[in-house]
Amino acid sequence: MSHEKITEEKYMRQVSGSLASASMAIHAHETVDLLRQRRTKEILSRLETLPPLPAAAQEVLSIVSDDPKDISRLETTISHDPALTAKLLRVANCAAFAPRTPIDTVERAIVYLGFQEVKHIALGLCVFETLNPGKKIAGINGDAFYTHAIATAFVARMLAEELDYEECEPFFTCGLLHDLGRLALAKCFRSEWKEMTRAAREEEIPLFVAENRLAYPHTLIGMWLARAWKLPEIIVTAIASHHLPVGHPKTNETGALIQLADAICHGLGMGILAQPTIRRTQLVDYIGLSRGYIKDLEKQLGEIQGLARGLIS
Ligand SMILES: [Fe+2]
Ligand SMILES: [Fe+2]
Repeated sequence: MSHEKITEEKYMRQVSGSLASASMAIHAHETVDLLRQRRTKEILSRLETLPPLPAAAQEVLSIVSDDPKDISRLETTISHDPALTAKLLRVANCAAFAPRTPIDTVERAIVYLGFQEVKHIALGLCVFETLNPGKKIAGINGDAFYTHAIATAFVARMLAEELDYEECEPFFTCGLLHDLGRLALAKCFRSEWKEMTRAAREEEIPLFVAENRLAYPHTLIGMWLARAWKLPEIIVTAIASHHLPVGHPKTNETGALIQLADAICHGLGMGILAQPTIRRTQLVDYIGLSRGYIKDLEKQLGEIQGLARGLIS
């Protein structure tokens, strides 16, 4: 079965079905709704064992939500976190942003890239780092995961720019965090995650298909976590919907754009295990990009891998 066919509704039916057969003797009278609630509760209680967002991330999150902009508060928050500062400066100096002279301070990054850009990059980096266990993620190559996230972030940002979106900046963050649910799965659902990654590797199936088999899709888990952390709605939407096929009632432009960015990165060898099956042309048409643009873009993306790798080290 193609992963495209697995909708949230279908997933809940699968969950309810397997749980129902196991518990029929004891809880014959229970409704599917009750099973659904129990399942949700069980998953949420495991997610609650994750650490809260660190202070720097909470501060950046509140700056992202605040209006009017407070440049000095953003600069101070980032500067007080050396790891965040170092990563932000690496992103700011990469060829995708093409600074004329090296950017060596947070202040210069804000001047050159702009307040909006820096606050979204900073939010993405600190949320990602909250769950990122360094180079070790059980069952998959941690470097490949990080490379995929960074590359998807850059590609998503480029696609948003090509589409002339009024606000392109959040798409970097959406790309960086789109598979956040997998970091949560690896941490909170260790035995299930081990089984999913084993099946994906040995059977050479997309990881999303293996997740759905066990009824732990990273889209749903990531969406719950993003909601619990009160991340901006656009990030929640990107996480929740980036594997929905065109035509699904919940498909939206944000999720479709991230799905396309994800597929482009997979296609260029910056994916995680087997590439998900998608109808790429449909997706390109749905978000309103020209087919020729994607081909041109892919030719320019050779540097992204090196860039993403540089950000890991
Ligand atoms: Fe994904
Ligand atoms: Fe992905």
